[in-house]
Amino acid sequence: MEFLERSLPTWLDRCIAVRDRLLSNATFQRRAAGLPLARLVARRRARELFDLCAGFVYSQILLACVELDLFDILLDGPQTTPALADRLGLPLPAAERLLSGAVSLRLVDKRAGARYGLGVLGAAIAGNPGVAAMIRHHAHFYADLGDPVALLKGEHAPTELSGYWPYANAEQPASLQPEQVAPYSRLMALSQPLVADEVLDLYPLSGHRRLLDVGGGEGNFLMAAAARAPQLSFVLFDLPAVIERARARLAVEGMSHRIEVVGGDFFRDPLPRADVIALNRIILDHEDKKALVLLRAARRALEDGGTLLIAEPMRDAPGAGAMGAAYFNFYLLAMGHGRSRSRAELENLLQQAGFGDIQFRSGRRLMQTCVLVAKRRGIGT
Ligand SMILES: C[S@@+](CC[C@H](N)C(=O)[O-])C[C@H]1O[C@@H](n2cnc3c(N)ncnc32)[C@H](O)[C@@H]1O
Repeated sequence: MEFLERSLPTWLDRCIAVRDRLLSNATFQRRAAGLPLARLVARRRARELFDLCAGFVYSQILLACVELDLFDILLDGPQTTPALADRLGLPLPAAERLLSGAVSLRLVDKRAGARYGLGVLGAAIAGNPGVAAMIRHHAHFYADLGDPVALLKGEHAPTELSGYWPYANAEQPASLQPEQVAPYSRLMALSQPLVADEVLDLYPLSGHRRLLDVGGGEGNFLMAAAARAPQLSFVLFDLPAVIERARARLAVEGMSHRIEVVGGDFFRDPLPRADVIALNRIILDHEDKKALVLLRAARRALEDGGTLLIAEPMRDAPGAGAMGAAYFNFYLLAMGHGRSRSRAELENLLQQAGFGDIQFRSGRRLMQTCVLVAKRRGIGT
């Protein structure tokens, strides 16, 4: 057995080395291209490789479409290139270039009568301000990834994303000013509907009395919960400057009477009491030590036997593909704090903080939000 364990990796390594030598050999590539089956495989692989090399161009074409409101314009119906050039404010050749790029990416479709309409992917973005806002804010991430090696070595000047998300590196996050929290709070409010429906489908809140949303931003999750669970009372906790925004927002939405708001720092101030607590897109912002401080604070705020929900993308979620290990991992690196965690890593933190009976529920929509439902273990604090 020990012999097998020792020799298997060496044997596997040797086989893979032969494969790698073949695949990187120009003569082999030329000969394989002559065989029908190998040609199919080679073509698919060449395409994958090219897409990897060119991915940043595709993202920037997408950004141009969003910045110019192309998808919203096409919601009015298919239009000719001159009409679109006019509405986009582009010279005709530039509009033709953008449209043909967008067609190749299935963002836009060619229609009869030399017109363009929404493609399947453009249609998913059109009228969805949350997705458009996520794409727009990627301009910061894109700037930080300009020199990925410097970013990995920690030699990058302060990153744009660390300025965009100022709370985790702040000595006193509760002292952040309104203009510092405004950009990320707007983005979170716009994109929260993408998450809220998924979380509430996965955990419909039945049997609870009082829901606390910790780091709940401008209150979008609680407003969505209030629409589904009229029996519940609600409390929102976030930094004071964010709570000011939430207060104004809830007043406009006529929800101030249903949702109580409390400002503070969740690492220092006690959290309001509740029998169910939500942490939506919160734990991934923080390293393990701080995540544990927060989870323990949530446990103290929960009634005996209360429930904690953690909703966020998990690295090994079914169907997540490169999203966790590539996108979120590098996003958090550029942000300068936080960790993209696997389900097991989160479960481990929950157990250390005094939670048990942990259940996993997998999301399937765009943001790949998964939910862990955990019960407060033990009695008293
Ligand atoms: C990534 S956002 C998530 C917002 C919201 N839960 C959502 O999913 O849309 C993180 C939230 O945590 C809040 N936050 C960060 N650090 C905090 C702290 N120390 N105390 C209280 N709130 C904090 C931020 O202000 C922000 O609203």
